[in-house]
Amino acid sequence: MKVLQVRFAGGDIGPWRIDRLEAVLGDPLPPAPRLAVLDGPEGSPPIGATWILHGVTSSERYVNRAERAALTARQQGLGRAEATCAPLIPIRKSEAWWELTQDERREIFEERSRHIATGLEYLPAVARRLHHSHDLGQPFDFLTWFEFAPDHARVFEELVARLRRTAEWTYVEREVDIRLVRAPGG
Ligand code: HEM
Repeated sequence: MKVLQVRFAGGDIGPWRIDRLEAVLGDPLPPAPRLAVLDGPEGSPPIGATWILHGVTSSERYVNRAERAALTARQQGLGRAEATCAPLIPIRKSEAWWELTQDERREIFEERSRHIATGLEYLPAVARRLHHSHDLGQPFDFLTWFEFAPDHARVFEELVARLRRTAEWTYVEREVDIRLVRAPGG
């Protein structure tokens, strides 16, 4: 698979306007008016960036064959013209999570928490891309990115509320919820 290096820069520049930035758990990030998403390792960060989060796309850890087929059949790509709303939700999980074995994590993630089964209910309305940061010495383990049309903003709230009530989320120790709207002027 193609690994993509991605930087999310909060600051004065970028096509996304930051409408909301709040700490769900743990420390927040400094406020900023705009967000730029930079694909690839090259290039200096935008002038005026207040914070930059690095992540890489990677191979799947937990998805089984049947789930992959279901995801592939339903998921849509990023960049749809109508998908002008985008949450960026950086998440860090606890040491206790990382000390579990792969089997134990899968058990909590899917058999107990139904992360994939629940998420599938929200496709194709919500498009997503997961970035890993755990091995990059970053403040978060995951940078989760979603895109949808304004009409689906309410169902997305329902989805995050459902996930935050799961056994998986008891291992989350830092989560920042950043809501963006694609808007000219940045
Ligand atoms: C739109 C519906 C969603 C679908 C279909 C979905 C699907 C998935 C899948 C398949 C994985 C596992 C990838 C792998 O095998 O490594 C995953 C991981 C993850 N997702 Fe979701 N997800 C959805 C929504 C969300 C939301 C709303 C959040 C955050 C609030 C979230 C946070 C995460 C995190 C943090 C991981 C990494 C878990 C880990 O490796 O420990 N997901 N998601």
